Amino acid sequence: MERLQKVIAASGISSRRKAEELIVDGKVKVNGKVVTELGTKVSGKDIVEVNGKVISKEEKEYYLLNKPRGVITSTSDDKDRKTVVDLINTKARIFPVGRLDYDTTGLILLTNDGEFANIMMHPKNQIDKVYIAKVKGLIKGEQINKLKEGITLDNQLLKASRVKLRKTNLETNTSIVEITIHEGKNHQIKRMFESVGFPVLKLKREREGFFQLENLKSGEYRKLTPKEVQTVYSQKNK
Ligand code: URA
Repeated sequence: MERLQKVIAASGISSRRKAEELIVDGKVKVNGKVVTELGTKVSGKDIVEVNGKVISKEEKEYYLLNKPRGVITSTSDDKDRKTVVDLINTKARIFPVGRLDYDTTGLILLTNDGEFANIMMHPKNQIDKVYIAKVKGLIKGEQINKLKEGITLDNQLLKASRVKLRKTNLETNTSIVEITIHEGKNHQIKRMFESVGFPVLKLKREREGFFQLENLKSGEYRKLTPKEVQTVYSQKNK
């Protein structure tokens, strides 16, 4: 038995909060009778109608997108900017798993499966998030070690689990660094590089767990396979 508002939200027609409003407003029927009680529980055998239409459970969907620059990682935007959800052709109420900044590119997963999102994001699952950062300046071993040891900023320890210098360019005075983190704190990579004196000029996420960009071009996406989804579930609490 599940709460009525949860069942309505799981059908994809509204958020849980909006579902509560629908119930209170008398728009919801269970087995033909209007129900306005928020605590009502229903089972899979009960027929739930919202505004006269019978609802059914929304299928779970999973996508891997190569996020372009200039797109926000959100389901909607008050300034009407394009969101990652706008790039996916689906009617399901999907949302991004974690976030990338407006100017960050690369791999982002989207789904309507909250549990899948939790597994991917929870720091205890130690899922690698691998970024390629182009930074201003010629970075050296000393700064790389600092990134690995961790930097405390605003009472948060920001730490890289791996850092590899890929290239330095004396002419443009820039470095390309591969950096792996397990959390996804706000602007984490940019703040870490900034604090060792190497501002990030460009940032791209290349890998998240076993997911890679492969040959997806900017703005392209693909569905995850059932096997990939299963593998994520098998990593829970490992
Ligand atoms: N760290 C950042 O600073 N920005 C991102 O978009 C992702 C990680």
